[in-house]
Amino acid sequence: MKVIIFGASGLLGKELIGQWPDDEVVGLGSRHGDIRDAAKVGDLVEEVCPQWIVVAAAYTNVDECESHPQLAFEVNRDSAVNIAEAAKRIGARLLFISSDYVFDGKKSSAYQTDDLRNPQSVYGRSKAEAEVRLLQVLPECCIVRTSWLFGTGGKCFPDTILKLAATRPVLDVVSDQRGCPTYAVDLARAIVELCRKDARGILHVTNAGDCSWFEFAREIVKRAGVQTEVRPVSTLQMARPAPRPAYSVLSPDSLHKYGISMPTWLDALSRYLQERRR
Ligand SMILES: NC(=O)c1ccc[n+]([C@@H]2O[C@H](COP(=O)([O-])OP(=O)(O)OC[C@H]3O[C@@H](n4cnc5c(N)ncnc54)[C@H](OP(=O)(O)O)[C@@H]3O)[C@@H](O)[C@H]2O)c1
Repeated sequence: MKVIIFGASGLLGKELIGQWPDDEVVGLGSRHGDIRDAAKVGDLVEEVCPQWIVVAAAYTNVDECESHPQLAFEVNRDSAVNIAEAAKRIGARLLFISSDYVFDGKKSSAYQTDDLRNPQSVYGRSKAEAEVRLLQVLPECCIVRTSWLFGTGGKCFPDTILKLAATRPVLDVVSDQRGCPTYAVDLARAIVELCRKDARGILHVTNAGDCSWFEFAREIVKRAGVQTEVRPVSTLQMARPAPRPAYSVLSPDSLHKYGISMPTWLDALSRYLQERRR
């Protein structure tokens, strides 16, 4: 199988390259071309002529998106459509990575794939609108929503917590936002399997279990054997430019239909910490 990964230099993209050994995988980052350039995207796709295209490229700085909405929509929505149109021309399958931020966070039980999108931030809107447009261009495409991504391939929450904990005796972390941490290695493995299983439609792929950012940070510090105290604070106390969903736990039901189960986030965290120490 021939595959193109857009966003191969990112946190998830690097793991996708590493977890996809048996196929011919072409990884593309922004240095190979800007995905906002439809003609360039078309050339790249036609040159490789893959069976699958995975879109892990995105403008992922959620707070910056608030002050750069045009860039957010161009990269996260319009570029995804460019890639989908190129995929359609050559008959390739498309897997697009989306986010829990398409939801408003007002539920108190796990979000199902057909729950109403109601994004609260520019980033969330750009992803939600991308989903709608992609399903119009390529109704058979696969949309994988994930959340709270972490891994050794880039900036992420556990890395930030450990760096801060190395110099501070106390860390204040938000305790009123709940979601599912997701290890990039586990997500990448699931994506490879989904492509091999010819998956289509919207799927939720996260590690199993859920927690608040406070609980996540407390576990990171404890497992790393650091003495720093982690204190719970409210979202209101930690004002950020982009609103976050208070509750964005994604149900695994859609993934289970493909016979795929994800390890728990606690298990994933142990493996991440081991990998980080290497
Ligand atoms: N991080 C999270 O917590 C999280 C949660 C839910 C969903 N997601 C989604 O998961 C996917 C992967 O996220 P990630 O954290 O791995 O992202 P990331 O580390 O920020 O990587 C983003 C990738 O996109 C590429 N890119 C950005 N703008 C581009 C442009 N205009 N043209 C070409 N390439 C461009 C970057 O290339 P360069 O490095 O060359 O600039 C990089 O390879 C994204 O779709 C993201 O929205 C992430």
